[in-house]
Amino acid sequence: MLKHQELIDKMTLTEKIRITSGKDNWRTEEFPAVGIPKITLSDGPHGLRHQEEEQDHLGINESNPATCFPPACLSAASFDEELLYEMGRAIGIEAINDHVHVVLGPGVNIKRNPLCGRNFEYFSEDPHLSARLSSAWIRGLQSTGVGASLKHFALNNQEENRMKSDSIADRKAMHDIYLKAFENPVREAKPYTVMCSYNLVDGVYASENGMLLKEILREKFGFEGVVVTDWAAMNDKTASLKAGLDLEMPGGAGYFDEKLEEDIREGKLDEGTLDQAVDRILELILKTAGNGKIKELTGTLDIEKHHDLARRIALESVILLKNEDKILPLSLDGSRKIVVIGALAEKPRYQGAGSSHIIPYKLTSLLDALKEKDISHTYYEGYSLEEGDHPAQSVEEILTGIQKEDTVIFAVGLPDSYESEGFDREHMRLPDAQNELIEKIAQVNRNITVLLYGGAPVEMPWIDHVKGLINLYLPGQAGGEVAAGILFGETSPSGKLPETYPLFYRDHVTSEIFGREKYQVTYREGIYVGYRFFDKARKEVLFPFGFGLSYTDFVYEDLQLSHEQVDFNETAELTVTFRIRNTGEVHGKETAQLYISRADHEGYMAVKELKGFRKVSLNAGEGGDVTFKLKKEDFHQFDSGENKEMVYEGEYDILVGSSSRDILLKKRVYISGEPFKKSTVPDFYNRPSGKPSLEDFEKLLGRKIPETKLGKPFTVDNTLSEMSGVPQMKIVIRKLSSMLMESAGVRSRQDNAYKVVHSMFMQTPIKRLTLVSPDRMPKYMGEVLVLIANGEYLKAAAKARAKK
Ligand code: BGC
Repeated sequence: MLKHQELIDKMTLTEKIRITSGKDNWRTEEFPAVGIPKITLSDGPHGLRHQEEEQDHLGINESNPATCFPPACLSAASFDEELLYEMGRAIGIEAINDHVHVVLGPGVNIKRNPLCGRNFEYFSEDPHLSARLSSAWIRGLQSTGVGASLKHFALNNQEENRMKSDSIADRKAMHDIYLKAFENPVREAKPYTVMCSYNLVDGVYASENGMLLKEILREKFGFEGVVVTDWAAMNDKTASLKAGLDLEMPGGAGYFDEKLEEDIREGKLDEGTLDQAVDRILELILKTAGNGKIKELTGTLDIEKHHDLARRIALESVILLKNEDKILPLSLDGSRKIVVIGALAEKPRYQGAGSSHIIPYKLTSLLDALKEKDISHTYYEGYSLEEGDHPAQSVEEILTGIQKEDTVIFAVGLPDSYESEGFDREHMRLPDAQNELIEKIAQVNRNITVLLYGGAPVEMPWIDHVKGLINLYLPGQAGGEVAAGILFGETSPSGKLPETYPLFYRDHVTSEIFGREKYQVTYREGIYVGYRFFDKARKEVLFPFGFGLSYTDFVYEDLQLSHEQVDFNETAELTVTFRIRNTGEVHGKETAQLYISRADHEGYMAVKELKGFRKVSLNAGEGGDVTFKLKKEDFHQFDSGENKEMVYEGEYDILVGSSSRDILLKKRVYISGEPFKKSTVPDFYNRPSGKPSLEDFEKLLGRKIPETKLGKPFTVDNTLSEMSGVPQMKIVIRKLSSMLMESAGVRSRQDNAYKVVHSMFMQTPIKRLTLVSPDRMPKYMGEVLVLIANGEYLKAAAKARAKK
């Protein structure tokens, strides 16, 4: 018996079908006669993007103002679950005040490669950190009665061709890395919804992938909520419902309805399956629209309090990466002149572009903060952000204003046009104009502290020529105050890197394939993602995972384990305790990290994996005890041979340290379990070095990877990019593109939104352009385009005439 059987019995088949797709971009259908209201879903992960007027899902049109908290790239560096809980709760309160019922976040896709354009919206390269922080965010949000949407399920780790790329990974990598990030939040925080991704996984769209949605999400992880498509990720609704998906967003003007009704009438889909989806949707609607907390929390929004929270989260997350000669914190005694260089000090990048882009209530830049604090300084713009890669003024002009002994604060970073949802970065460098300017200034002044903005790692050719380096990532609306607070020592920095910074992009295990694989995206590196690769390949990095300095010093001591041997059939937990002391002169916070390492890690497994982290706040001279309780699941590893999670018997090292490469305490424990059978995997997976070949990967998978064949006859499942080689399509595409750009308010190629809109337009299957924009691309027009691409002009003309 379904929960809402009585209601469902009152609905006709057509109504039941209608409620499984949205009414418009952000709302579900309503049936007031039977007491079903509509609910609103809005982005996003670091603040509310609620639109009342012109609607779009690419961050182009206006939305109501909201607090812009630091995006996940920075908030992850807090390593602080409580702060993420508070952020979720605050966004929930803003959602209630804007009558929003479901917030579309958080995103827990793993940072497989530093160039993914959307990395700024994701937490980490590590599944444990991503899972714990997103879980806290969801608990915070849902404590207000507003539902979360954990996204994008799954293996969506690049933007290039995201609507049609097919992610192919071996089972161990899928389970131990990519799906792991979703598991804990689903089990523990129980998000009301999970959003499937656009891409295919193992040849099947995520939106209709029974292995992902049924076997893993529902059966293994126990998910009972609504699975919603990413916006226009629906491909075949009958297949989706069969696979366990419930809600299609946006509505797409009922694109699939007729066919679905036919399939049900012909017995191709059991009506019970539809009822099941309707039941889950009704549960979501009634739970969130009738949310008892709405009354209690409406009107409680205090935007100053939320600004303060955005500031606190950023302050606790900003990472001090270098502090040569203790140049930081900067002194304010007036003995040295302060010179600020870089347009980002005036116009900071504080969030990323795309669907998560919001309009902040207010925004502070570093220059605002210096003014506010009455700190006298000289400012040079240095380079232009708008023109991407150009100096804004001559170096000579700046050099004449700088003395050898001045203190230089140099703000650099990735411009908006470099990273965004919708496309990937082309390289891992900062704009040349910025790199060159640092080097030139460093020739006359060595007291440089770099403030780094941007959602992902960059190469730092100048690292040896500067003394201080503070990574702000994208700091949210309070970024200016935060930068000043850290620079001048009001707070000691305590953020830790949630990802590895390679020395050079070429060092990255996927550097030769990432972004170049358009259709079959081969996750050839297997489980060797982030520090798991650099550790096992023993490669030097610029800054390791978990790294971050402080203005004080910490000592780790007295590691104790509750057992020397553990059999998890008899003992529920292994307790780990140790002590941290602040041996420096100021208050500080330290994030202790616990990694588990199988003593014999020969074979297809990581050297060590993060399984716990804790941030402690200590006054100068103070000490504090830290306790972790490790459970059986913490020792789980997916065994591809057995096709299940196992605990391998043997000795394990419990490692405690201040970063993945600064392990300070270590103790061994014997864990009972099942024997580890070394499987015959290609050598790369036992001892990764160099790059994995396609041949090795196919051996690991045990099958050949099929090739995608493109070409005529085209269908509505093809993209304009795929049709662009056909001569007659060139002019059609040009015309359509300028029409679309105009309607999206994009004026020139230099406009930041140009690249996003263009890639969306070219890389979306035609059918799905109709789902997103049924008015501008009605169904018949899509069909006409296909006829033109196939050279069937006369038919196309007749079809278009018939519609007029
Ligand atoms: C994004 C989602 C987002 C949705 C709605 C999509 O383009 O991938 O993350 O929630 O749009 O804006």
